[in-house]
Amino acid sequence: MLEVNQLAVDFRLQRHAVPALMDVSFSVDPGETVALVGESGSGKSVTSQAIMGILPTNAVIRSGEILFDNPETGQLIDIARLDPESTQMRQIRGGNISIIFQEPMTSLSPVHTIGDQVSEALFLHRDASYQEGLKLTEAMLKHVGFPDPARALRMYPFELSGGLRQRAMIAMAMITHPSLLIADEPTTALDVTIQARILKLIRELQAELGMALLLITHDLGVVSNMADQVVVMYHGRVMEAGPLRQLFGDPQHDYLKALIHAVRDQVRSRRADKAATARSACRLRQAAPARKRGQQNLSSPSRRLVQYPVQGIAGGRSGVAGSRARRMLRPGRRKRLRQNHAQQDHYAGNNAGSG
Ligand SMILES: Nc1ncnc2c1ncn2[C@@H]1O[C@H](COP(=O)(O)OP(=O)(O)OP(=O)(O)O)[C@@H](O)[C@H]1O
Ligand SMILES: [Mg+2]
Repeated sequence: MLEVNQLAVDFRLQRHAVPALMDVSFSVDPGETVALVGESGSGKSVTSQAIMGILPTNAVIRSGEILFDNPETGQLIDIARLDPESTQMRQIRGGNISIIFQEPMTSLSPVHTIGDQVSEALFLHRDASYQEGLKLTEAMLKHVGFPDPARALRMYPFELSGGLRQRAMIAMAMITHPSLLIADEPTTALDVTIQARILKLIRELQAELGMALLLITHDLGVVSNMADQVVVMYHGRVMEAGPLRQLFGDPQHDYLKALIHAVRDQVRSRRADKAATARSACRLRQAAPARKRGQQNLSSPSRRLVQYPVQGIAGGRSGVAGSRARRMLRPGRRKRLRQNHAQQDHYAGNNAGSG
């Protein structure tokens, strides 16, 4: 469906041309998921911009091909040769190939409603009347998990949580039923629980529409859950490419090896942390003095821990962790905490200026 052959892209900076992509080649088959991984600045986004025909104005495609086999028309088109502003490229962009960006707040217009933004792609690329378009948009918003899609049509991005904004972006990308979806770090800006839901949604839509997915990510967990093929980029070049099992089983390139080791180390240190916590809990329990009559003993080390003023409460981006934390504090403890803070402010004030 998509074949990138020896693609080279330069950026013109004043008098020099700085190469961003050199000899990049890989392919994406229909319905397949290809993960593009690589360190920051390796050229992943520039590759996706070249495929979408949205390279910055100072970028030039020096050589190579981006062959797209359009299933709608049966034509094989070289996107690298197309004028980004041509009718054909506009039809492909958004109609046959769509993109989801990392940060929905910068990709969605703040002054247009979600309904207008999602339906715009439909009116541009598909033959639909206004009423029909609104109905399809509402159905798509429901499909991607908006609890009240009719209301969401009239809402603005700033009124939505990060997860719902990303769902709106997905709805916008999917409304035209593209044959290829490019997702450039689609969940990096979201917290972990929402990440998992968004990735599940992308997978479900992909299976339902038989769409190919070019997934750009740093997260090897995501790669191992989603990808059929992996392409590893480094300094604007493809270093390694192949089926997921092959690459993860026997990584050749140092960057991929380092990434895989980092994940293994993380898992090991998490296991070691758990074991250490269990050991110290056991020691604390053993060290607790025997209970005397009328004296309260520490029944468990966690009882001791809750007496420290610093406690952590985690929650989602739109969660209520802060207010819950305040409610949890009993008035006496709130007062003690206020006194502690006042004391800390006092020390901070005394130390100010001393470096
Ligand atoms: N508008 C631009 N002008 C000049 N150089 C650019 C421009 N956009 C990107 N580059 C350069 O192109 C190279 C590739 O950048 P790219 O954004 O594709 O990296 P990336 O792999 O997507 O990184 P990240 O993981 O941080 O998103 C980098 O060296 C970057 O500095
Ligand atoms: Mg990028």
